Amino acid sequence: LFSAIPMAPRDPILGITESFNADQNPEKINLGVGVYYDDNGKVPLLKCVQQAETMMLEKAAPHTYLPIDGLPAFNTAVQKMVFGEGCRGFDEKRIMTVQALGGTGALRIGADFISRFSASSHIWISNPSWENHRALFEADGFTVHTYPYYDGETRSINFNGMIAELKSMPSGSTVLLHACCHNPTGLDLSDGQWDEVIAVISERSLIPFLDMAYQGFAQSLEADGRIIRRFADNCPYLLVSNSYSKSFSLYGERIGAFSFVARSADEATRALSQVKRVIRTNYSNPSRHGAEIVTTVLSSPELYTMWDNELSDMRSRIRQMREKLAQDLSALREDLDFSYIITQNGLFSYSGLNKKQVEQLRDEHSIYAVDTGRICVAALNSGNIGRVVKAIAQVL
Ligand code: LMR
Repeated sequence: LFSAIPMAPRDPILGITESFNADQNPEKINLGVGVYYDDNGKVPLLKCVQQAETMMLEKAAPHTYLPIDGLPAFNTAVQKMVFGEGCRGFDEKRIMTVQALGGTGALRIGADFISRFSASSHIWISNPSWENHRALFEADGFTVHTYPYYDGETRSINFNGMIAELKSMPSGSTVLLHACCHNPTGLDLSDGQWDEVIAVISERSLIPFLDMAYQGFAQSLEADGRIIRRFADNCPYLLVSNSYSKSFSLYGERIGAFSFVARSADEATRALSQVKRVIRTNYSNPSRHGAEIVTTVLSSPELYTMWDNELSDMRSRIRQMREKLAQDLSALREDLDFSYIITQNGLFSYSGLNKKQVEQLRDEHSIYAVDTGRICVAALNSGNIGRVVKAIAQVL
């Protein structure tokens, strides 16, 4: 069984953390994985999470199984948050939400589900996209195509190319879109551009799958989430994966959700029964702790406000680092324009570094980035940014 198994390639993102961990240099910096660190270089334990955990501990509840689709109160609270109160689909009972193992787990439930029931096994992802998107859908037997998204010359979105590709997709195909803080480019569509995308998607009867791993990291929880409601109100079908890894700093809890919108309550009920089969045959039912934390925060006005403020602090710190990065790089390399860094949103910057320069950063400076040049701005802090800027200016 094992003798002919070839070595799998290193994971393009989590594999960097493996190399980083093996590096003996005490000055090493990991700008690879998308994790938010505070200004002391630590992954924060949010105060709202701490308070929720204290409340949970006081209850001393037993660790029973959750239902197949997760904690009911979690699913209700998440659905309200993701779609916004008053979304038409609620009253019509056309929206269903199930707890998932982080954003990846949610995508996987969605991929398994559509691979079983969609007439089309074709999906389009942006070029470029999060490295795991392609692998995840290919693992479910999809043919993965790309639509143009990033124009490397102008360092902006190739919107005409994107629309032209959407218009050429066969109806019934799935299109994966990043709701906000596009991973890896950090470039998001404007409101007007989203309108055009929604119009083409509904005209051509495509199935939109929105991946929202970074709600709250572009403008605000409310503003970033609005796009989901717009799709839900304008498209007959919608799939959504969302994650609380980054926004709650709950990476190791693997907590997120998969939601879908159907055309009627009856369709939604039948689809949910099949989504539950997907879950049952994969991991039976999800784990409890992360779901309890998120539910406790989302259902307490006081804790929710605390969370919103903590998230807003994270967002401001990343923005400050982004501005400093652009400013300090410009000071060292007056010959180059770094203004594009400022136009990007979220945890990442598509820095423009090529693979060779990324290798140089790693080999000569123990600074780790993704081969495509994606760097995690949220891993910069007042203590390490000087070293990062000097090293980037040197290898560019
Ligand atoms: C990332 O893009 O770095 C994160 O979403 C972490 C991951 O699982 O790849």
